[in-house]
Amino acid sequence: QVAAASGHTVVLVDQSDEILKKSTKGIEESLKRVTKKKFADKPEAGAEFIKKTLKNLTTSTDAASVVHSTDLVIEAIVENLEVKNELFKTLDKFAPEHTIFASNTSSLQITKMANATTRQDRFGGLHFFNPVPVMKLVEVIKTPMTSQKTFESLVDFSKAVGKSPVSCKDTPGFIVNRLLVPYMMEAVRLLERGDASKEDIDVAMKLGAGYPMGPFELLDYVGLDTSKYIIDGWHSLEPNNPLFAPSPLLNKLVEEKKLGKKTGEGFYKYK
Ligand code: 3HC
Repeated sequence: QVAAASGHTVVLVDQSDEILKKSTKGIEESLKRVTKKKFADKPEAGAEFIKKTLKNLTTSTDAASVVHSTDLVIEAIVENLEVKNELFKTLDKFAPEHTIFASNTSSLQITKMANATTRQDRFGGLHFFNPVPVMKLVEVIKTPMTSQKTFESLVDFSKAVGKSPVSCKDTPGFIVNRLLVPYMMEAVRLLERGDASKEDIDVAMKLGAGYPMGPFELLDYVGLDTSKYIIDGWHSLEPNNPLFAPSPLLNKLVEEKKLGKKTGEGFYKYK
């Protein structure tokens, strides 16, 4: 959405037409929200902006067949290294020489993905934040193999889609998640110990620390499955780090398919 809205030609790839239809509808809804603010007094210009943006966007269920005309691939699939590497290996065969590959991973090592391809110097991380049309930040991740030219291209792209880039080495969680995820897990542990209710913890962090959402609202928003993937991955890397310890309550909710807002229930219930 943000790439298409800033004039880039985008091919959105997913597994089925049904998912793509749902994604396109989500983008249309989100564009309406953005437009309402951006073109508050100019509804015609707003309608033109939406039309132009959607014109820049096509969809496909076959990544290998569309990657030949791509300068930049941004991968945002399931947080599973084997699955990501399989995709990158395939795309590496079909993508032009100059094409840069980037992963939007929240927590996995970019270096391990780059090593699944033959373009380690043209590989980096581009980590966006939910909701992407609103959050201004992008973390640009440079592995020891990422060339300076690739890094600069990723920084330039981030600016071209209207974001403010920061850079970080290829370390677990980069900057934001390295701080945010342990904080959210500490909130879950506070609840597990029975020290305070989730409602009071959320109110406390909103009114006492000025956060726009409390930790449980944010966990539900990000997705409990995503949060579990992140913490489990880090726990396996550093089993003795108490900040990365898994939580029985989080595990139970994920097992019950209570994944947050997207499934209608997580820590809270949604209509
Ligand atoms: N698309 C377009 N616009 C959207 C949107 C979307 N998906 N979601 C919200 N907006 C817009 C609204 O239209 C509204 O615009 P307005 O100011 O013109 O009215 C504005 O954003 C604010 O939205 P709301 O009034 O609905 O609600 P809030 O004021 O409560 O803001 C929020 C919503 C921006 C989500 C805010 O609660 C917030 O900043 N929450 C924290 C988000 C956060 O921490 N994100 C990072 C998560 S971690 C992550 O993503 C990393 C990953 O790897 C796990």
